[in-house]
Amino acid sequence: MIGIFDSGLGGLTVVKEIFRVMPDAPILYLGDLARMPYGTKSKETICKYAEENTRFLLDHGAKIIVIACNTASSLAYDHLRAKFPDTPILEVVSPAARKATELTKNNKIGVIGTRATISSKIYEKKIMELKSDAHVFGASAPLLVSLIEEGWLDKTETKMILKKYLHPLKKEQIDTLILGCTHFPLIKGLIQHRIGKRVNLIDSAEAVVEDLASKSYPD
Ligand code: DGL
Repeated sequence: MIGIFDSGLGGLTVVKEIFRVMPDAPILYLGDLARMPYGTKSKETICKYAEENTRFLLDHGAKIIVIACNTASSLAYDHLRAKFPDTPILEVVSPAARKATELTKNNKIGVIGTRATISSKIYEKKIMELKSDAHVFGASAPLLVSLIEEGWLDKTETKMILKKYLHPLKKEQIDTLILGCTHFPLIKGLIQHRIGKRVNLIDSAEAVVEDLASKSYPD
């Protein structure tokens, strides 16, 4: 069974993609709504939550863990690796970073995510490891997670806030934008419209499921 967690409903974008690619995959999903958002919390707190979530999923029969949250992937992956050395654990940052380096033509890659993900600079680090001549522009978009959890997917307020967040990335003429938060694919249409249709959008859900599907794991 694949155990998946996020702070809320964003990780369901990963579940949806798993069902598209592997319709029979047994899944156990934990959305930690009582303690969301994660993106405004300290590394210590995010590690604690990620560890508790992983333990809960393992106690309920999960054999593989997918961290369907960029914030927890950015700040707690190493912690989880150390705590659960025998459990296969997938995170969403590396596959998205790899996909961005494959798709960019002008080497200008943007990333939007929570404040915690962007301040960790993990995307810069992973991208530069793969493509040292790339330029990475990060923009934190702290209000979007709450707006999406509220179901404000198509409200004028959401569009205005998004415009403000994307403006600096648009100015840099990025050709690839990583949706560095698993909530953001839920407003992919708005993001594509605002950043421009020529910009490649990288959905971390799609990227991690490609990895998951290419590996074999215990049931
Ligand atoms: N879906 C989470 C992520 O990918 C949202 C984090 C939050 O709760 O702030 O980062």
